[in-house]
Amino acid sequence: MAAQKLTIPDITARKGARPLSMLTAYDWAWARLQDQAGIDMILVGDSLGMTMLGHTSTVPVTMNDMVHHSAAVSRGAERALVVADMPFGSLNGKRQATANATRLIQEGGADAVKIEGGLDNADIVRAIVRAGIPVQGHVGLTPQTAVNLGGFKVQGKSAQAARRVLDDALALAAAGCFSVVLEAVPAPLAAEITRRLAVPTIGIGAGNACDGQVLVMHDLLGLFDRFTPKFVRQYARLGEAATAAIKSYIEDVGARAFPGEENSFAMKDEELQALLDGLDGGKS
Ligand code: KIV
Repeated sequence: MAAQKLTIPDITARKGARPLSMLTAYDWAWARLQDQAGIDMILVGDSLGMTMLGHTSTVPVTMNDMVHHSAAVSRGAERALVVADMPFGSLNGKRQATANATRLIQEGGADAVKIEGGLDNADIVRAIVRAGIPVQGHVGLTPQTAVNLGGFKVQGKSAQAARRVLDDALALAAAGCFSVVLEAVPAPLAAEITRRLAVPTIGIGAGNACDGQVLVMHDLLGLFDRFTPKFVRQYARLGEAATAAIKSYIEDVGARAFPGEENSFAMKDEELQALLDGLDGGKS
């Protein structure tokens, strides 16, 4: 029996209850594994630019990239709510932003979109929500504009900076976001924002008082070794396991130990003989 798809009310009802789990996925196979494991939300993050496409930031990721990967993930997620990132440059005004969000839902099959930025993007969030598209906000460290924030740094450490992050989160909730991601902010600030917001907060590097947690799957599984932020807990070392498996394959191929008989197709002796007799006038 197909699992019941989680809805926005299912997600918002988890405010202050059992924390929500969310992970990134970028294709059908991993989305399916996460879904079967019981993940609540899958984020088709623009982090795919780094984890899947080899870019050094999320900035080069395009709408076409996001639609392509969202469609694959959506096919693998029966129960989990699929949230797709609006990439850099896709929020140029309410009209363009709404058209792009619509593409992620219609062509990408996503259930909701995620937008980086706070107060400055509140009007855009309002327009997209008015178009019937659920929006998840993202404040604190916003990778698309990290260059303006002084790099990949913890945000909201001073009282003044913390107030800005709080105001951003409040503005997004007031604009209609069904949840807000808090990235790289001090745990006490995230706890205070979580207390003050009526919608769930989803933390990444924001302590454990949030209403849920999100991580980049490649960090959690040890599949991305360019850098590992302090807030990541690595639950497996699949990168190392994969490299070891690939080395064994290379050795087996070189030693003719692969394929074995069990991986090969047989042929009846008389058929082989008939083939040989028919070749080169039967001289073989
Ligand atoms: O793109 C992404 O993976 C994200 C997470 C860091 C929340 O936005």
